Amino acid sequence: MTTSRISGFYNMTLDGRRAKIAEALAPLTPPDLGAWTSGGISAEAADHMIENVVGMHSLPLGIALNFMVNGKDVLVPMTLEEPSVVAGASFMAKLARAGGGYQATTTDPLMIGQMQVINVTNLNEAKLKIYEQKAELLAEADSIDPILKKFGGGARDLEVRIFDNSPIGGFLVVHLIYDVRDAMGANAVNTACERLAPKIEAITGGKVHLRILSNLADRRIARARCTIPVKSLAFDNFSGESVRDGIIAAYAFAAVDPYRAATHNKGIMNGVDSVVIATGNDWRAIEAGAHAYAVKNGHYTSLSTWGKDTEGNLVGTLEMPMAVGIVGGATKVHPAAQAAVKLMGVKTANELAEIIVSVGLAQNMAALRALATEGIQRGHMSLHARQVAIAAGATGEQVEKVAAQMVAEKVVRIDRAEEILKSL
Ligand code: MEV
Repeated sequence: MTTSRISGFYNMTLDGRRAKIAEALAPLTPPDLGAWTSGGISAEAADHMIENVVGMHSLPLGIALNFMVNGKDVLVPMTLEEPSVVAGASFMAKLARAGGGYQATTTDPLMIGQMQVINVTNLNEAKLKIYEQKAELLAEADSIDPILKKFGGGARDLEVRIFDNSPIGGFLVVHLIYDVRDAMGANAVNTACERLAPKIEAITGGKVHLRILSNLADRRIARARCTIPVKSLAFDNFSGESVRDGIIAAYAFAAVDPYRAATHNKGIMNGVDSVVIATGNDWRAIEAGAHAYAVKNGHYTSLSTWGKDTEGNLVGTLEMPMAVGIVGGATKVHPAAQAAVKLMGVKTANELAEIIVSVGLAQNMAALRALATEGIQRGHMSLHARQVAIAAGATGEQVEKVAAQMVAEKVVRIDRAEEILKSL
């Protein structure tokens, strides 16, 4: 099976879903699936990852269906605690399929390393002296990581910026632009900056203070676009046109108001972070990059845009930094993360970034569609109702029955759940 459309997945048992996934993508082995059953790592393995370990903390892992990215079907693993997110992404991906799915692109995986140079007598002179030595400095940085170089990565550029009015007076900032290929890149970039520091000091006569990568990874951008046929947006009493215009008006709100943009972008990050976490990547880095990028024009705004094409179809775009890797860190050592990468069949970090940005766009549309029509609570209510039914003692098929009746009655309370349960 090569499609990401699996009918009835929602209603299958846990084991049934696992079997379906294994069948969907041949390379997934029993140990891969086992990593998801157990959570992936033992406390002993965790003890080697961070300090003062006392145990483990699990999150649910769900699979988003229906995604087609650049013409290829993909099942997307999502790790998060919030209900409605996986269902929302899957449903929007289904609508997007009718318009060809998601078209996604990435820049080269260029990360920025920063070196802060203080105690410089003449900032302008020092800046030009660094540029005069640029070729030598880049060659030095390039020689640090032969493996990365073998795979086509390495130092690409050097830029010097002057800050002449900081709280400590003037200083220089040297940016090292580094192609990190399939790595997240923090280690490679930090190592390169530390290696260049003495040379920068010798050239400038100053002192290199901080040497660290920037999470505003604005040279490493992922972009996704989708077209949703206006007809497919219609549901209940809402016409396709009204849903489309509602989504566009909701986007306009986020475009102009930072208070709304923060929540709008949070909805995007619901999708983005959950795939980032499932693949063992650093979601704080992605969050930092996303929000810093959202303010790149001087005011905090939406990372996505929504409008229409000449035929009146809904068109969405999303553009954001995406510093994710597939070869190092937790992605490499965490079997559950390895299984997630395998499930998506990605061979490069850029392919992973293209899927993640597509999921972010789908998630954003799910939120805007709900907010612009029936409101967010209805979808939440049915999931909440299932939790209330379970709390009232419902098990197996009873859960769905009790929840459905409470939603139909618009009374989602434990006492009502208990009554319905008795009557079954
Ligand atoms: C909730 O996790 C995310 C939303 O608030 C996003 C949005 O408002 O666009 C629903």
